[in-house]
Amino acid sequence: MKIGIFDSGIGGLTVFRQLMKKLPNNDYVYLGDTARLPYGIKSRKTVIEYSIKNTQFLINKGCDLIVIACNTASAFADDTLRKKFNVPIFNVIDSGVSAVKDSGIRNIGIIATPSTIDSKTYSNRLKKVKNIKKIISKQCPIFVPIVEEGLKSKGYIDQIINENLNIFKRNKIDGLILGCTHYPILKGKIKKFLGPNVKIFDSSVEIAKSIKIQLGLTKKNKSLKKEVYLTDGSKYFKTALRSMFNNVNFNVKIIDIR
Ligand code: DGL
Repeated sequence: MKIGIFDSGIGGLTVFRQLMKKLPNNDYVYLGDTARLPYGIKSRKTVIEYSIKNTQFLINKGCDLIVIACNTASAFADDTLRKKFNVPIFNVIDSGVSAVKDSGIRNIGIIATPSTIDSKTYSNRLKKVKNIKKIISKQCPIFVPIVEEGLKSKGYIDQIINENLNIFKRNKIDGLILGCTHYPILKGKIKKFLGPNVKIFDSSVEIAKSIKIQLGLTKKNKSLKKEVYLTDGSKYFKTALRSMFNNVNFNVKIIDIR
């Protein structure tokens, strides 16, 4: 099987990494739409348009399954992509919501991009979950450039985490959804800030679990090819890729899909 994954940039690598761990016997094509990043402050119409182009590119590369490794694109474009393309399409929101459902958690927080929060996709779905009593949503757009530019170890990050997440200390929660695929890169700091009593739902882990369950055992591909494409040069992408994939050397190609 050849699995196609797309995101606006580095974020989807968190999904790619989890998929490689759980389903190593497949070929992968990763597309980071770095020319048009960030998605998280763009309109539904624009994100749908980008997502169609990304999916078409991956299908042209021979992918037979598409993973929308971006919450913003999952919130806005999932329906359109399913109607338009005749391959299985997985999105990060469905798997996150079902993990929360299975956990029985009552007070849930969501952090995501402004577009994902404004779409109300998470909150509308979580409202239907029986155990949930309280839902608190918070936009954290600044987390995306921190990850894209490799700034997570800077001294000021703790202050940024504090300012963005203290709402969840004032209003007690027992679970937090990382509703943007860039955020798992900051998971250590987020966990440390919220403490051990808040369960973190990481969309990259949850989607890999649910794809594995749905696919079952896949036949081992002969080639195990991994292709990585970007729509523009990105200063930090290759460093992030190397550090997330234990120094595996990927050949990153810059392409134009506009
Ligand atoms: N990683 C993406 C998400 O999950 C988008 C981040 C961005 O480009 O703003 O929403």
